[in-house]
Amino acid sequence: MENHTHSTTLSNTSSELGNHTDLKVHVFNSSSELLEKLHQRWSKVEKKPYPAMYSSVYGGIILDPAIMVIPIDDHMVHRGHGVFDTAIILDGYLYELDVHLDRILRSAAKAKISLPFPRSTLRSILIQLTAASKCKKGTLRYWLSAGPGNFLLSPSGCPTPAFYAVVIDDDFSQCKEGVKVITSTVAMKPPLFATMKNVNYLPNVLSVMEAEEKGAFASIWVDEAGYIAEGPNVNVAFITQEKELVMPLFDNILHGCTAKRLLELAPQLVEQGILKGVTTKNVTVEEAKGAAEMMYVGSTLPLLPIIMWDDQPIGKGEVGELTMALSDLLWNDMVAGPDTQRIPVPYIE
Ligand SMILES: Cc1ncc(COP(=O)(O)O)c(C=O)c1O
Repeated sequence: MENHTHSTTLSNTSSELGNHTDLKVHVFNSSSELLEKLHQRWSKVEKKPYPAMYSSVYGGIILDPAIMVIPIDDHMVHRGHGVFDTAIILDGYLYELDVHLDRILRSAAKAKISLPFPRSTLRSILIQLTAASKCKKGTLRYWLSAGPGNFLLSPSGCPTPAFYAVVIDDDFSQCKEGVKVITSTVAMKPPLFATMKNVNYLPNVLSVMEAEEKGAFASIWVDEAGYIAEGPNVNVAFITQEKELVMPLFDNILHGCTAKRLLELAPQLVEQGILKGVTTKNVTVEEAKGAAEMMYVGSTLPLLPIIMWDDQPIGKGEVGELTMALSDLLWNDMVAGPDTQRIPVPYIE
């Protein structure tokens, strides 16, 4: 039976190969012909999802999605030598841009990527890009790369590091429904790579895919010592049976900007007597699974209640009151927080 299947597969493959010899691959002889083809894809799209892009290779902002591309010899493309970060655009304000900018600079330093511009220029480019995009609600994503040059490993042949950024229209709102999660079987990144936000997200992708295949929303990584680490693109937090907010230490995982802000804001709930305390510490799987409430914490959520983990309910298996109280704190900070957290975008109408 096995042999039969094998030979069928082989004969199919060879007949397909035979057909391929008739295939004539089109050669684009002019850039205008190619541009026309690229525009075809977008001509059918009513509302462009990416209203603006900046590229240091172009030296400016472009509004045409057909040419929002980066060079194939950029080391971020073929070697993963790039770091990235994000910021949320909400009601015409950029939320926590400075904290995210500080993090991309730390990531770039760890990845040994030098800056194409000083921090103040990067910041100004991002604000001007958001203004040019006219986007009032969405995501700003940006990358620092070793830059284009060649196809080798070492970036020594890349004359200039590159900076790219794009604005993505997005409609997000406070999460009020709980989700199911699983423990990931995909290996975690070692600390050096987990603590810098670099473009190698294959483990994260596979981890999410594994969760989806098992009917869950996303996954939880547990480190080799048996402590809770993080989710594939989010941090994780718990409310203990004693009503304490607990987050895993950030030594070996990404230090989330939302988690950082949550830890700054949560003491307000302690003062009001709603929470008993706020702590960061190593959290074992046993402690975590025995928590009263559990949540994901990340920029676009900002908080997502978790009600089931590996088919076991967390607490009562429903969205927790304290989770929602923390979610309200973060959401209010996003829509009406202080000037230190929100930069008004100087749109030109
Ligand atoms: C691996 C990982 N952990 C945690 C986070 C959460 O970080 P933040 O709150 O800055 O979005 C992210 C997202 O950036 C991430 O990719």
